[in-house]
Amino acid sequence: MSDFLADLDELQTAAEQRFAAAASSDELEAARVEFLGQKSGRIKDVQKGLGAVPKEDKPAAGKRFNEVKQAVQQAFESAQQRIEAARDESKSEPLFDPTLPGRPVRLGRLHPITQTIEELKDIMGRLGFSVAEGPEIEDERHNFEALNIPADHPARDPLENFYLHAARAGAGKQGDAPLLLRSQTSTVQIRVMEHTPPPVRIIALGRVYRPDTPDATHYPMFHQMEGLWVDRRVTMADLKSVLRLFASSYLGHDVHIRFRPSFFPFTEPSVECDYHWNDRWTEFGGAGMVDPNVLQAVGYDPEEVTGFAFGLGVERLCMRRHHITDIREFYRNDVRFLHQF
Ligand code: PHE
Repeated sequence: MSDFLADLDELQTAAEQRFAAAASSDELEAARVEFLGQKSGRIKDVQKGLGAVPKEDKPAAGKRFNEVKQAVQQAFESAQQRIEAARDESKSEPLFDPTLPGRPVRLGRLHPITQTIEELKDIMGRLGFSVAEGPEIEDERHNFEALNIPADHPARDPLENFYLHAARAGAGKQGDAPLLLRSQTSTVQIRVMEHTPPPVRIIALGRVYRPDTPDATHYPMFHQMEGLWVDRRVTMADLKSVLRLFASSYLGHDVHIRFRPSFFPFTEPSVECDYHWNDRWTEFGGAGMVDPNVLQAVGYDPEEVTGFAFGLGVERLCMRRHHITDIREFYRNDVRFLHQF
């Protein structure tokens, strides 16, 4: 009798442990077969021992057997509930659905000014102008002197320029040449002519810097497109033709162009160039015939060659074309603005 009861105790503990440890329905099923299986389950085995229990102990043994059987059944059922609940929980998690279309990759786009620059290069390239480049940090020779802007000219005022060593502006006499952020792309004219014998036909597109307070039409950094054509017998008529062709290519055929007399140290005569488009005149930049002093400064012979130069504001062109009213929009980095181009 005591053997039988001991077997029952052991069975109950073992069964409860196994059911509690079952982590999947497969493991649970294996445990069920082991303990509760109809053919060779351990409960059935132990039940066989009941026959060997003395007659007078049978009622007590039978009672205990039923308790253990019930406890094992109970352990099985609660494990079953536990595993099913876990499975339901994992079902409610979003499953990967391979048939869904992929999320589109959001492509960025080129900045409107970059797009404008590319288009300007394209238009001017068709007119035979190749692209030249120059540094944004310049010396006074390329930004002023070779451009016929003398030392006492107001354009050289430290308050009008970003000198990199403001305290040393004008220190050239002591042999320590001051540097500045270029205030105009005309510097590239000088750099090209210094190294290339005529004829030259180039554009230079890039950033220029002036200490202006930002407002709707000013920004301390903006872009210019410089043009330069030097050859024998280049005339003011060529200048006007090129600028008109450029304007109608960029803005459309309903563009008119007008020259107003002006002054730049490096051109003579000098003009301001206006475009009439959509019922409005807008100034696009300066231009003129390259001053003989400039040709001489780069070693050209003003008796042999003549040339014209122009400098247009890139932001202004882009603003006019796209009806943008505030130059600061370009540099706010607001994708809602940038995404429109
Ligand atoms: N460099 C002048 C400016 O910044 C523009 C210009 C370029 C004028 C070439 C004449 C010739 O305003």
